[in-house]
Amino acid sequence: MNWTAKWINPELTVTPDERKRAGYLRRVFTVDTTRPAKLCVTAHGIYDVYINGVRVDGYLLAPGISQYNKRLAYQVYDVCDYLNAGENEIIITLGDGWYRGSMGNDMTVNTFGTDIALLCQLEIDGKTILISDENWEASQNGALGLNDMMKGEEYDAGKETVTDWHSVTVENFGFENLFEQDYPPIKAHETFKAELITAANGDSLLDFGQNFAGYVEFEVNAKAGQQILLQHGETLDADGNFTVSNFQNPRHPHCEQKIVYICKDGANRYHPTKCYFGFRYVKIETDIEITGTEFTGIAIYSDMPQVGSFTCGNESVNKLFHNTLWSMKSNFLDIPTDCPTREKHGFSGDCQIFIDTAMFLMDCFSVYRKWLLEEQSTQYSNGLLKQVAPDGRKEPHFCDGAAGWCDAVEIVPYKLWRRYNDDGAIRENYDCITKWLNFYLDRNKTTRDEYKWLPENLQPYFADQGLHWGEWLEPGTDVMAYMTNIGMHGEPEVATAYLSYGYGLAAEMAKHLGKTDDAEFFGNAAEKTKLAYRAAFVTDGIIESERQCRYVRPIALNLLAEDEKRANAAILARKISENGYKLNTGFLSTSELCRVLTDYGQAETAYRLLLQTDMPGWLYSVEKGATTIPEQWDGIGMDGTPSGSHNHYAYGAIVGWLFDRVCGIRLEWGRVHIKPYPHRLLRHAKANYKSPLGEISSAWKYDGNKVKFEFSVPQNAKITLPNGESYDVTAGRHKYQINIT
Ligand code: BGC
Repeated sequence: MNWTAKWINPELTVTPDERKRAGYLRRVFTVDTTRPAKLCVTAHGIYDVYINGVRVDGYLLAPGISQYNKRLAYQVYDVCDYLNAGENEIIITLGDGWYRGSMGNDMTVNTFGTDIALLCQLEIDGKTILISDENWEASQNGALGLNDMMKGEEYDAGKETVTDWHSVTVENFGFENLFEQDYPPIKAHETFKAELITAANGDSLLDFGQNFAGYVEFEVNAKAGQQILLQHGETLDADGNFTVSNFQNPRHPHCEQKIVYICKDGANRYHPTKCYFGFRYVKIETDIEITGTEFTGIAIYSDMPQVGSFTCGNESVNKLFHNTLWSMKSNFLDIPTDCPTREKHGFSGDCQIFIDTAMFLMDCFSVYRKWLLEEQSTQYSNGLLKQVAPDGRKEPHFCDGAAGWCDAVEIVPYKLWRRYNDDGAIRENYDCITKWLNFYLDRNKTTRDEYKWLPENLQPYFADQGLHWGEWLEPGTDVMAYMTNIGMHGEPEVATAYLSYGYGLAAEMAKHLGKTDDAEFFGNAAEKTKLAYRAAFVTDGIIESERQCRYVRPIALNLLAEDEKRANAAILARKISENGYKLNTGFLSTSELCRVLTDYGQAETAYRLLLQTDMPGWLYSVEKGATTIPEQWDGIGMDGTPSGSHNHYAYGAIVGWLFDRVCGIRLEWGRVHIKPYPHRLLRHAKANYKSPLGEISSAWKYDGNKVKFEFSVPQNAKITLPNGESYDVTAGRHKYQINIT
């Protein structure tokens, strides 16, 4: 793209500490012909383009979120149908967006800058017809007032005729960070009807029946000056009243998710354009007579087709699948985020633990690929990575470089490569991975005195430095005490495990890319780090701990020999049964818990964990009526008191196990292998996966003393039945049955 346009700022003064009304930018221009017409636009902030009064469709919340100082996407629109031969008017609205609006758990503002600005260029039939420049006019006096990603938006329909036009400020932001958007746009998807209900305390609420990310659209008839106030929340409190307390706590006091709308006379039709919220319920205050039908909930997310479905004989498990899918939809807006309310942040840890599941649910390759490039852009010159990307904060966060979080840079490309058989992401991130792992190793060159008892040659491979989240949110743990302990002693069990695993993956990727010296170095580092881990945490091949994560991690991250994995999985299963078939894993190992049990002879225990309806367990929140996955196992207290976000996909990672173990669908480097682990407790199960190779399905059902299987594969595949029989099959449908005793 050859930019001749200039960056223009609708504001004439910089007042970083003040919230500002949305900017309007306008230009009248004439054209002789209307096609082919291509409009290229980007902004600091969020923009919407209106040509001759009609909004140009294609992207929501554009230009989206990215590490703006390094990477800023521009969007290209075909605008032929919006133009008239002759005179045309273009108006572009600009809001704060992720650029200078609230971001993250401390709701920092101005993370990328204080200046909103627009860059736009119209080309018709190859000729540049219009550019953003000093000839545009600007105003802050239109309908759209204050706007913020987390606080919400103010709109005064009485001011739709914009007044007080003034000149623009031409800025010199350059073009180096610009690229044409090469990942799916954020679009509007499912719609939900509202039910108007009255809460216990008399508040009027709209209930959309589903927690999701998006906004409310409404159409009402009103008199000028009448108001509609909407506040968006995920859940009701224990008394049945509206609440935002689960995400708006003392650390996040202004995550208000509010819309203030002032009506004009007659028909009013509106939805916000400069923010989105996570919600199921909306508290509504208005003196306009309403029935609820005036309001529609609109889910928005990156335009990724759904590729996976799952059903089985247990309705709560089916609901768990649904809830996970909705937590994914609510958190994939340009990048995978942690939650759509309190933070809206691209947390690396959340991203990596969910990827196996995400790839079964929706076609998310390009969203992950984009996120990796954002994460890569956060890398400091010494190799340290931010734990969140994008992140414009200048100062490193204390948990930047956290193990299991920043390891997303090697885990995500590896898993994309394995599933999609596409090595693009490993090529793009190879240098970043190398720098990161070497930083990670170097950071541990010194060893704390308390670990000096380790063999001297292994001490440099023992990762006891840095701050980490560790097994974050492990049930029964006091978070403050846990983090203080990490501050004092490091978290070497987690960090050494991930360092070894990360180097192991890097060795495979280096080998694939023909970088043999690197592969050898990484392989050696993986081995030494593994030895350091084993010297500190494994005694004669056995783990001793009351914490289930201590078994899951070394099995899942390949720190044990196969026979040791089997022996430790048996101990883990015993501990789980002694714990009443309840899990006690936190953020990092829950995603692998059932997999390690299933792979090493303890499938029965995995099923019992799945079907646990008490806390902590996956079905607990389902039975409490959740429609998405809560961040905490006790997100809905026994008495109904909500806490934490109600829309974190992290624990929904169990759904990956339903696909790749319960139904046994595995796709690795272009090879299909189906190896199901059926269990009578579910009676029947069926997974369907529109994989990059074509549709794969796997179904089984118990029928008397038989289990019947039906598989469908798009190409040659291997099938392994639970009785050990194995078949090489060709594309098509295949049926089997086995007798059970
Ligand atoms: C986020 C998480 C994230 C974590 C880091 C939280 O506030 O919501 O999902 O991974 O911080 O521990």
